[in-house]
Amino acid sequence: MSDKRGERLRSRFSKGINKLAGQYVASISFDWRLYRQDIAGSIAHAQMLAKQGIISERDAELITSGLVSIRDEIEQGKLEFKSELEDIHMNIENRLFEKIGDVAGKLHTARSRNDQVALDLRLFVKEAISEAVSKLRKFQRVLLDVAEGNRNVVMPGYTHLQPAQPILFAHHLLAYFEMFQRDIERFQDCLKRVDVLPLGSGALAGVAYPIDRDFVARRLGFSQVSTNSLDAVSDRDFVVEYEAAAAVTMMHLSRLAEETVLWSSAEFDFVEIDEAYATSSSIMPQKKNPDVAELTRGKTGRVYGHLMSLLTVMKGLPLAYNRDMQEDKEGLVDTVDTLLSSLEVFAGLVRTVKVNAARIRDVTAGSYILATDLADYLVKRGLPFRQAHNVVGKLVQYAISKGKGFEELSLEEYRNSSPLFTEDVYAITVEASIAARNAIGGTAPEQVAVALTRAREIVGVEDEKQAD
Ligand code: ARG
Repeated sequence: MSDKRGERLRSRFSKGINKLAGQYVASISFDWRLYRQDIAGSIAHAQMLAKQGIISERDAELITSGLVSIRDEIEQGKLEFKSELEDIHMNIENRLFEKIGDVAGKLHTARSRNDQVALDLRLFVKEAISEAVSKLRKFQRVLLDVAEGNRNVVMPGYTHLQPAQPILFAHHLLAYFEMFQRDIERFQDCLKRVDVLPLGSGALAGVAYPIDRDFVARRLGFSQVSTNSLDAVSDRDFVVEYEAAAAVTMMHLSRLAEETVLWSSAEFDFVEIDEAYATSSSIMPQKKNPDVAELTRGKTGRVYGHLMSLLTVMKGLPLAYNRDMQEDKEGLVDTVDTLLSSLEVFAGLVRTVKVNAARIRDVTAGSYILATDLADYLVKRGLPFRQAHNVVGKLVQYAISKGKGFEELSLEEYRNSSPLFTEDVYAITVEASIAARNAIGGTAPEQVAVALTRAREIVGVEDEKQAD
């Protein structure tokens, strides 16, 4: 084994690691993504060691400036990572030795890679949460803009993907606003449990130096310090929670994606995807494909997969650290990348979509979507609902047999099905049906206006919070 680090950590061995085994245990190809967190954690640790008199101020300064310059090298693409050095922690430590010599060896005092990697991950997940929340907020604003820009557009509401009752298009979009609101709250709630400093737990048993964990927590922006060293280095439940929140968000995005695919089809033709978000076919020149929406739907699969994968990795591990846990990282990093890019790109698609209001209205009116309202009409005139349901069901059957819509039926035809029908049955329109659903949470314009105002307040309040 020729590399320095091999010699440095393998003094109890008389030979180097097998080449393939070395590659097998290496994680640098994906955990390099933790470099910023690793360096921030190391700087805070070194400064704490100096403050506590465990190392000298001079050594802490050397270590700090060395680490800062390593961060610059990484950001400029100048540091070549080596898989013989296994992971990001050892790659950075090795580079520090090259830069400042043996003083570098003092950085790992009162620390283990086990609490170090737990720290890096927690810092990484904290950032990932704040990015997810801000991208979800942006998406909510897009939904609000599109909803407000199409306030009067009506559409069929569906159950079983069959036209059910007319609704406002804005009401439909606001349903996703609600889902994203809960997604944001899930991430924020998860943050409380991520926001705990594990550094200072050592390998598993705690640290035998007079360290100041509160100082490190403050430096790194943690609001709490972990209270059990075994737990702090050996659980990844905070990653599971983040990935679960990401999975739920992707589930929501995927449903909107599915609707976008459907709605942009020639058969529905409810919306038109902007060319900037559409793809073409390699053989059929006429095609305008919704690949962005399809991939948002499709990528949901890998996010679910990472969650299941980590749950499975963790389920059989004895306390405390086990190398199995290195398997948390690829899935986590990919979850972050997938979630954030999906939110960003798909929001762009929604922002630029063209809504074919006239076409949606025609489809709405062209179905027997007012059947419930006809039944309600009979109920108001004294018929029990079940009987009214029956009468209107027969009327639908009759209208279909004549190839007519409700509005094309004569009063006589109505009265043949029930004498309770009078001239005012023609006042039952799509708009009247929508306006009637005026209980809290309903699709009536009045309720949707309240919902829009409330939604604007929610996204506005957060703006102020971010500004603080
Ligand atoms: N790359 C390792 C991981 O991600 C770092 C911790 C290594 N610790 C150890 N005891 N081998 O889990």
